Amino acid sequence: MTGLAAALAAHLPGFLARQRWFAAKGRPVRSVAVATEIPLCTGGEPYLDLVLADVEFDDGSPVQTYQLLVGRRSETGDELEHVVIGRFDGWTAYDALWDPAVTTWLIDAVRTGVEVGGVQFVPEPDAELAEGVPGRVVGAEQSNTSVVYGDRSILKLFRRVVPGLNPDLELHRALRAVGSTQVASVQGAIEGTVGADGQTATFAMVQNFAANSAEGWAMALTSVRDLLAEADLHADEVGGDFASEAYRLGETVAVVHSELAGALGTVERDPGEIADAMLVRLGVAATEVPALAEHADAVRAAFDAVAGLDAPIPAQRVHGDLHLGQTLRTPYGWLVIDFEGEPSAPLAERVRPDSTLRDVAGMLRSFDYAAFHQLLAWQPGPNEPDAQLSWHAHQWAARNRDAFCDGYAAASGDDPRAHAVMLRAFELDKAVYEAVYETRSRPTWAPIPLASIARITTEIAREIDTEIDIDTDAGVS
Ligand SMILES: Nc1ncnc2c1ncn2[C@@H]1O[C@H](COP(=O)(O)OP(=O)(O)O)[C@@H](O)[C@H]1O
Ligand SMILES: [Mg+2]
Repeated sequence: MTGLAAALAAHLPGFLARQRWFAAKGRPVRSVAVATEIPLCTGGEPYLDLVLADVEFDDGSPVQTYQLLVGRRSETGDELEHVVIGRFDGWTAYDALWDPAVTTWLIDAVRTGVEVGGVQFVPEPDAELAEGVPGRVVGAEQSNTSVVYGDRSILKLFRRVVPGLNPDLELHRALRAVGSTQVASVQGAIEGTVGADGQTATFAMVQNFAANSAEGWAMALTSVRDLLAEADLHADEVGGDFASEAYRLGETVAVVHSELAGALGTVERDPGEIADAMLVRLGVAATEVPALAEHADAVRAAFDAVAGLDAPIPAQRVHGDLHLGQTLRTPYGWLVIDFEGEPSAPLAERVRPDSTLRDVAGMLRSFDYAAFHQLLAWQPGPNEPDAQLSWHAHQWAARNRDAFCDGYAAASGDDPRAHAVMLRAFELDKAVYEAVYETRSRPTWAPIPLASIARITTEIAREIDTEIDIDTDAGVS
């Protein structure tokens, strides 16, 4: 181990624990070791190293590898103080994404296409990357760290590095190759290898910056707030009605799905196997969330109905973690961002072809979340929800879920609601996951997924009771 690696390893536990992107906050860390240290800038200050730190946990759970770009200067100003990792051997080491000299160097390296110490800085053909402007770290609550260059480029440094091509880069390249305008086009990447056997790894991705855009999640929350403030009006009567946006978002997601299928192909999956995975997750969740018990039979029946489908499920590469926070509304239309997939899932699972209905269900869940998250904000505390506000929240969610499906159906020619058995199962699967997540980290939010589970299972029961003919067709093509 080099002197730098040893000194960093001593300082990293404290530094990592303070970072928003450190996914294992609160879990006792046994050790942090610098597994990889690649000098990128060696000619003078600031010195720059790409560092991969392996974090081991007391509970013996799998090692997590985090990426840092570590800058070193003999003296640093106040502007870097909040990202100092440690001081040793006459150096101050810091997270270099906050250093304009470093961000300028990074975008220049990608634009010109260089290789340093086995790290490849790769521009996409004909991409127009920002030039002559330093980067500025985005303030967003992120699992990675993004740096914006003027109004041209945004560089995302992946904080968790696993062997293999990152699906965010893989899918953005595939979508660029088919000329997609539904995503922020990839401009370049920083890639290399990890481990003794030199497996591919993705360190960063550069994309077109969508100037003057708003996050779908923030827009949806504003719309719900407008409705709750105008308690006498219906969702279609208030100024901030979101339904036309939800419709267009549905169209956009449908086009992304068709582009992904065109670029990377389609396969078929066995419904029994998809149902089994849902049932396993339900079993684990039920041990952690006692409130799931009263719904468990109904949810299990919904998953069993998937297993009972006789046709195979059409599958393809999908987004895998689609919700309103993964969408941007530009002045021209919607963009879908962040194709990394469910961050805590292993890579092999994230790249596995899946039903497009999983993404649709993710968006439908997000509309519920937006509506009821706002309701919680209006009514903190254990009070019974105000019946009128609650009715409005339900109305907003139902209206936008339908508008999204209408838009999806119009663009794809296939209405997701026609595949009710699959769609509801994916919604329930997601809500079960959310119930675990909220119970662990934000117990006051746990009622949101639990109420959705109650709503969906009640709807299924009502339809069975009245013998409404549900089309059990297998999936969206
Ligand atoms: N191409 C883009 N143009 C403008 N802003 C973007 C772009 N991509 C991401 N952002 C902003 O950065 C945030 C985080 O991006 P995302 O790719 O979802 O990162 P993470 O993997 O950390 O979740 C987004 O919510 C959005 O505000
Ligand atoms: Mg994201």
